[in-house]
Amino acid sequence: MILVTGGAGYIGSHAVLELVNAGYDVVVVDNLSNSGTESILQIKELTGKTIPFYQLDLRNSNSLDKVFETHNIKAVMHFAGLKAVGESVKKPLHYYHNNIVSTLCLCETMKKHNVKNLVFSSSATVYGKPNQVPIDETFPISATNPYGRSKVMIEEILNDLYVSDPSWRITILRYFNPIGAHESGKIGENPTGIPNNIVPYITQVAIGKREKLQVFGADYETVDGTGVRDYVHVVDLVKGHLKALWYLFEYGGIETFNLGTGKGYSVLELIENFKEVTSQKIPYQIVDRRPGDIDICYASPNKAKAMLGWEAEKNLEEMCQDAWRWQTKNPNGFQTPILLNIDSV
Ligand code: NAD
Ligand code: WQD
Repeated sequence: MILVTGGAGYIGSHAVLELVNAGYDVVVVDNLSNSGTESILQIKELTGKTIPFYQLDLRNSNSLDKVFETHNIKAVMHFAGLKAVGESVKKPLHYYHNNIVSTLCLCETMKKHNVKNLVFSSSATVYGKPNQVPIDETFPISATNPYGRSKVMIEEILNDLYVSDPSWRITILRYFNPIGAHESGKIGENPTGIPNNIVPYITQVAIGKREKLQVFGADYETVDGTGVRDYVHVVDLVKGHLKALWYLFEYGGIETFNLGTGKGYSVLELIENFKEVTSQKIPYQIVDRRPGDIDICYASPNKAKAMLGWEAEKNLEEMCQDAWRWQTKNPNGFQTPILLNIDSV
């Protein structure tokens, strides 16, 4: 059985679906601080499988302990965490407490139950302001905000843990910019309030919920002056997690992999793609740079290709198509009432 933390959230729910479709038994824990149980319900509809779900905070070690007692867990995919960069600047203690203490509690509980196989969600944000692109895994890590620093710190904690006991098997996955949704349109990104990330903002403009997109800066040294990012389809991304799981069972050790496509697109190129694919208008206005943003960020995905046999398959058109399908099928995000029976420990 695979434990997925944060499995009700955007990326975690896609991972649960992919794992179940690949034949794994899955148990989910999530405190629902940034999600609801609707995603789990949709996965049940898509797969016909009931997934044990526990609403708990990872920092509650007693409850987590009971989940490990109840289920024969072999490995953990750890997605749970807070992820809004701007909010982390305003609430650093909250972010450090949530992201770091929950990871410590998780690892302690895993150790207690002798479960030492872990896939961790890190981020390209750990590269800070890289000196060059494409970015490979040997680049120095640093961060420019508390969210990013929490990821840097967790990576260091996991490395220390491995040094202390090499029977741990750990893969650290650094995501570039995950976007899109499952092709069914039944699960997707469900931001509360004003989206921080560009694609949910674009889809909300396209559907008429927001007037126009603000393009943060057109004076970067890029193809058209706007920021360049490596957008990767969330389904490709979670397929990388299954490869990472295979890798750690097969080879052990601790390894870090970039998960990106290796291609960068500017904000204006993204808007153009979205317009073409969806035939929607995307009114936008160029405004000042967003503080903390960098000009260009894209991955070298070579290590993941060589060692995991993973490569992103979906192109930007498919990412836009799937993000739009999710938005049009769920104009206000998840709306179904909570019908799921939440397991208790
Ligand atoms: P998300 O907010 O949709 O999912 C995270 C889930 O974790 C949520 O359901 C939330 O309720 C849960 N959670 C948070 N703190 C918890 C706690 N203490 N105990 C139990 N559950 C808790 O975010 P996501 O986009 O799916 O991101 C998943 C992971 O990937 C995060 O660790 C994030 O930092 C990382 N990541 C995301 C992106 C991105 O652009 N989405 C990029 C790089 C890395
Ligand atoms: C993409 C591009 C913006 C919104 C963030 C986190 C990173 C990781 C992924 C978790 C940039 C521009 C954006 C808007 C815009 N998350 N933009 N108008 O900043 O690359 O990365 O999410 O780990 O840590 O920092 O993603 O989607 O916010 O921005 O012009 O309304 O779109 O300037 O060039 P980012 P993003």
